[in-house]
Amino acid sequence: MRDCLYLFRERPPAAATAQHEKFGTTEIAKSVGLSGMIVTIDGPAGAGKSTAAKTLAARLGFRFLDTGAMYRAVAFAAQRRGIDLADEAELLRVAQEIQIELRDPLVLLDGEDVTRALRTMEVTSLTRHAASNAGVRNYLVALQRACAEGQNVVTEGRDQGTVAFPDAACKIFLTATPEERARRRMQDLEARGEKFDFETVLARQHERDQRDRAREVGPLAPAADAVLVVTDGMSMEEVVDHLEMLVRRKQ
Ligand code: C5P
Repeated sequence: MRDCLYLFRERPPAAATAQHEKFGTTEIAKSVGLSGMIVTIDGPAGAGKSTAAKTLAARLGFRFLDTGAMYRAVAFAAQRRGIDLADEAELLRVAQEIQIELRDPLVLLDGEDVTRALRTMEVTSLTRHAASNAGVRNYLVALQRACAEGQNVVTEGRDQGTVAFPDAACKIFLTATPEERARRRMQDLEARGEKFDFETVLARQHERDQRDRAREVGPLAPAADAVLVVTDGMSMEEVVDHLEMLVRRKQ
């Protein structure tokens, strides 16, 4: 994919954050003379966001920002360092110390390829600590804004249309029934060599959804101006065609 590399430590977000708080994303882009278009795709686990967002970005020639990978990388790095993930200050320190590179399709943590390691059930479960940590969320949202500044971006997560990019030109909330999502997640895990029965995957997904919706900071929710897309019974190509049509309408 074209120029899809983010070196976080080399792009300190402080200035961008301060500007964002003052002006909002669109105004920053205008103020630096680079008007990028932001497309946000939020939704629950297993709705097909990643593949849809990545494919859509490639079609449009936009950058792709996988924000879930950032939360996963923080949790994974903390686990490796033997840190208590429930210690909020320590976890924030880890987030600030590591270097995450999103080099689609790879995710590098301090230069090491951790793409597969970040997708295991264990890391998925540990990621809740990073996702519910207000300091970590603020820090990662600032990085996301810094990465997107002046760029055309398709960004994917839970809070992209509500918190990270409230002024985004096109907001999509992608979802599917819980059973459909669990079936897709199982296929995903099987392809990676992890075997779980359907009921276990469905139960864990339900737990994660509840936690994502209920947390105080950056909860999973559609923005008021998001377009809801339910993907049950749609092929990935149909989903991306539909999303592309929604974006082009706003261009
Ligand atoms: O999208 P993905 O499954 O990789 O996200 C992993 C976890 O990271 C989610 O369960 C969610 O709790 C958290 N997340 C978040 N905010 C985002 C993206 C992901 O809280 N913008």
